[in-house]
Amino acid sequence: MSLKEEIDNIMNKDPAARSALEVVLCYPGFHALIIYRIANWFWLKRFYTFARLISHIGRIQTGIEIHPGAQIGKRVFIDHGMGVVVGETTIIGDDVVIYQGVTLGAGSDARGGFKTRGKKRHPTLGKGVIVGSGAEIQGPVIIGDNVQVASGSIVLKDVPENSIVVGVPGRVIYQDGKRVDGPVPDIEAQAIKALKDQMTELSHKINALMAATGVSEVQVNQSSKNKENSEMTIDEQSILNDPVDVFLHGAGI
Ligand SMILES: CC(C)(COP(=O)(O)OP(=O)(O)OC[C@H]1O[C@@H](n2cnc3c(N)ncnc32)[C@H](O)[C@@H]1OP(=O)(O)O)[C@@H](O)C(=O)NCCC(=O)NCCS
Repeated sequence: MSLKEEIDNIMNKDPAARSALEVVLCYPGFHALIIYRIANWFWLKRFYTFARLISHIGRIQTGIEIHPGAQIGKRVFIDHGMGVVVGETTIIGDDVVIYQGVTLGAGSDARGGFKTRGKKRHPTLGKGVIVGSGAEIQGPVIIGDNVQVASGSIVLKDVPENSIVVGVPGRVIYQDGKRVDGPVPDIEAQAIKALKDQMTELSHKINALMAATGVSEVQVNQSSKNKENSEMTIDEQSILNDPVDVFLHGAGI
């Protein structure tokens, strides 16, 4: 792929790119891929350490770490790119877009050390895949053509083509434009809700005990006092008073 094709590709894919000069001077994803292609050339000629050195210089320059042994197709665009890691046995198809902070990593094989050398340990991305910022794809999984991996997802299994995968661990929620799974549960919010429910139950028990022993009731939950004198619903009032409820409301719980 020529330099002109690399530049045209970025200008086609990024609305923020206003000129070829801007791409050449200011796009770390562009620099990283040029440096990768040089490093990969030396890697294929078996100059392994020199190839790694070039790759390392690219990492210092761009914040993007691409192992020279990775296989990267045409018109790939790494947008922003800081923190991107592409492992040795990764295969990236044509027209893939990767945002900052993406890891295409070895998964559990990373713990195998030298015993897994030469083994396919990293993902294979089909054509037209988009990997959102901060997403991780770990292990020798196959991500089908035109898959969109949502930002922040952790994908550990194969994903069929034309899907949208979201969440931790990644789940396919759309395939061929059709919904195939319900909303992704927010596990942290559910855990916080369970703790809050337990606290509320304990508060009621403490208050019942204090009432039984003649001690005046403690104000454990401010929202439960305010709701008595307001026309707002309990939910509305609780949200106004309790930051935990504000969080849970934001999480849709
Ligand atoms: C996954 C993605 C590619 C899908 O985009 P899209 O086709 O326009 O679809 P939507 O944004 O409508 O999202 C589809 C569904 O995925 C959910 N979703 C999107 N991103 C999500 C995320 N990061 N985590 C969890 N769910 C997510 C949406 O809530 C929506 O669910 P719904 O149908 O129940 O409402 C996109 O949301 C994404 O993450 N793009 C990466 C963007 C990025 O990294 N930008 C960095 C720029 S600097």
